[in-house]
Amino acid sequence: MKGIILAGGSGTRLYPLTNAVSKQMLPVYNKPLVYYPLSVLMLGGIRDVLIISSPQHLDGFRQLLGDGSKLGINIEYAVQPQPNGIAEAFLIGADYIGDDSVALILGDNIFHGPGFGKLLQSEIAGTDGCVLFGYRVSDPHRYGIGEVDAAGRLLSLEEKPARPKSNIALTGLYLYDSDVVDVAKNVRPSARGELEITDVNREYLRQGRARMVDLGRGFAWLDTGTYDSLLQASQYVQVLEQRQGVRIACLEEISFRMGFIDAAACHELGHALRKTAYGRYLMEIAAETDWAERTE
Ligand code: DAU
Repeated sequence: MKGIILAGGSGTRLYPLTNAVSKQMLPVYNKPLVYYPLSVLMLGGIRDVLIISSPQHLDGFRQLLGDGSKLGINIEYAVQPQPNGIAEAFLIGADYIGDDSVALILGDNIFHGPGFGKLLQSEIAGTDGCVLFGYRVSDPHRYGIGEVDAAGRLLSLEEKPARPKSNIALTGLYLYDSDVVDVAKNVRPSARGELEITDVNREYLRQGRARMVDLGRGFAWLDTGTYDSLLQASQYVQVLEQRQGVRIACLEEISFRMGFIDAAACHELGHALRKTAYGRYLMEIAAETDWAERTE
């Protein structure tokens, strides 16, 4: 399965923070925001990733992550000239996706919870049609919303409804088979002139090929769309990292843990950053024989 991180948009809701810097580059505690969605794809076992961003910001991502080889993955880049909608990612990435299945993740979404990697790996292995991830929220009118029956089967999908039929928000992580490119090609722009991801998902639902996985209580899906939620995301990461002594979305650690790089490579990446706590953590991880146990 290929991965796409959509990291464009104008970020106007966070001005002046985002006047000169891409929203997905803003710090969330000790890492750029885009590390978090990239960590999700890697935890799912995805090693081929396309990062899509606006023309003025794409080079920054290239500088940050390069071709991915240091992490044992392959990263490519593509431009979205205008924020014409989330579903445009499948048109921009059509050749990249080819006949493969694809996971799309929004570059500003943070996911964290026990067993998430394993859940994702099993969903990725069985992707047929489209898989959406639902999360109960207190402000459903701000999101795409999924209505389910008593057995948890999807009944309807709506984008930011004034009167939501449920409080289950659709998170910015979506798995699709390779048909998604053709489905996206047939989506018409919405009233706000965008190719809506919810319209793509609705077409899968109409075909009876959309499923929703409930992320459940105790899982964290964090918002980064406002000054306060961005700060709270940093605080969340800070609290967990300091309390437990482990790191969230540490890409080098995930590469090592997933077997994308070996202990020597992990040590080398840490050594290059040895003046930081981040670098020292990587060297520690590389030296541990019981690292798997510690990160369970
Ligand atoms: O975060 C989950 C929500 O994301 C879903 O519940 C909604 O169904 C989905 O439409 C989307 O809603 P948002 O209001 O968050 O969409 P927004 O337009 O803010 O775009 C989300 C991110 O994607 C944002 O960081 C910018 C980026 N983006 C967006 C568009 C429309 C792009 O890179 N290109 C685009 O064309």
